[in-house]
Amino acid sequence: MIDNLPKAELHVHLEGTLEPEMMLKLARRNKVSLPYETVEDVRRAYEFDCLQDFLDLYYLGMSVLVTEQDFFDLTWAYLTRVHSDRLTHVELFFDPQPHMDRNVAFETVVEGITRALEAGAKEFGISSKLIMCIVRHLPEEHAFTALECAKKHKEHIYGIGLDSTERGIPPATFARVFKAAREEGFVPVAHVGEEGTSENVKEALDLLKIERVDHGNHALDDPSLVSRLAHQKTPLTMCPLSNWRLKVIPDLTQSPVKKALDEGLLVTINSDDPSYFGGYINDNYRAVQKNLNLSEKDVIQLAKNSFAGSFLSDPEKQAQLDKIDRQVGTLQKTMG
Ligand code: ADE
Ligand code: ZN
Repeated sequence: MIDNLPKAELHVHLEGTLEPEMMLKLARRNKVSLPYETVEDVRRAYEFDCLQDFLDLYYLGMSVLVTEQDFFDLTWAYLTRVHSDRLTHVELFFDPQPHMDRNVAFETVVEGITRALEAGAKEFGISSKLIMCIVRHLPEEHAFTALECAKKHKEHIYGIGLDSTERGIPPATFARVFKAAREEGFVPVAHVGEEGTSENVKEALDLLKIERVDHGNHALDDPSLVSRLAHQKTPLTMCPLSNWRLKVIPDLTQSPVKKALDEGLLVTINSDDPSYFGGYINDNYRAVQKNLNLSEKDVIQLAKNSFAGSFLSDPEKQAQLDKIDRQVGTLQKTMG
């Protein structure tokens, strides 16, 4: 069922899809030095106690990305991989600021990604939207520089997101950047309530005016916020394997996905940084299905939510939901 259902991914960081093999290959190609010799060295380093532990290796890993071709290759490898998971739509994050800090031009990044997304639409029929994330650990003026660049690429960048370190950096820090981005037509989303509290989720809704909550685990700590999210049908993009590997939850049976479904929230399943957390989209579906004992109905609901919570137009959403219904019909017939 999971393998065959058409589905969308709404929370995946392009730089988090960098597999160790490609990391080492690009390091050689671009003469970037890394503290790893072999693929095993890289994988051994992926033991994280918290978000910051992971972010340190994630920013180090992405330092091998230099040319337009590198960004193309990385995006293309992701699309090829998830095509076999029956992914039909992706809303992809990228982090331009760390690249710009290494003197990689914004254009190089966006052009490489966009060329691959266009090829993915042609070759695999995967539709996409690109979301530029502001990294919280860099100052406001740095974020404004990235926004200035994004304004020149509006035809390719749909939304503005907020990621990186959450503890100690409240959403309000970027209220002015988000206001300017919204005025330019970028649709706002933010990583909140991953390690931070439900207050961060509320602040992002109220001050950044986000239309989707990335993670949002701790939103479930506040019943009035849960009612608000359910009432507004605000999507939550949850990432089970990421939560487990970053110790946001002690084990997968503690994933808030089932509780969110039962509360009537528009919750979706996503991979976040699949190379670092040991699983792509279907691995995440399988992990929650098994550990939370999800029914077939729950799994179908999650696949439907992935489109309902996307930024596709209503007719595009309907076409994808119809595809799911047809697929479920076929599966039920073949299973008697
Ligand atoms: N950047 C990449 N993955 C992230 C995550 N899970 N949380 C915050 N920032 C990120
Ligand atoms: Zn994320």
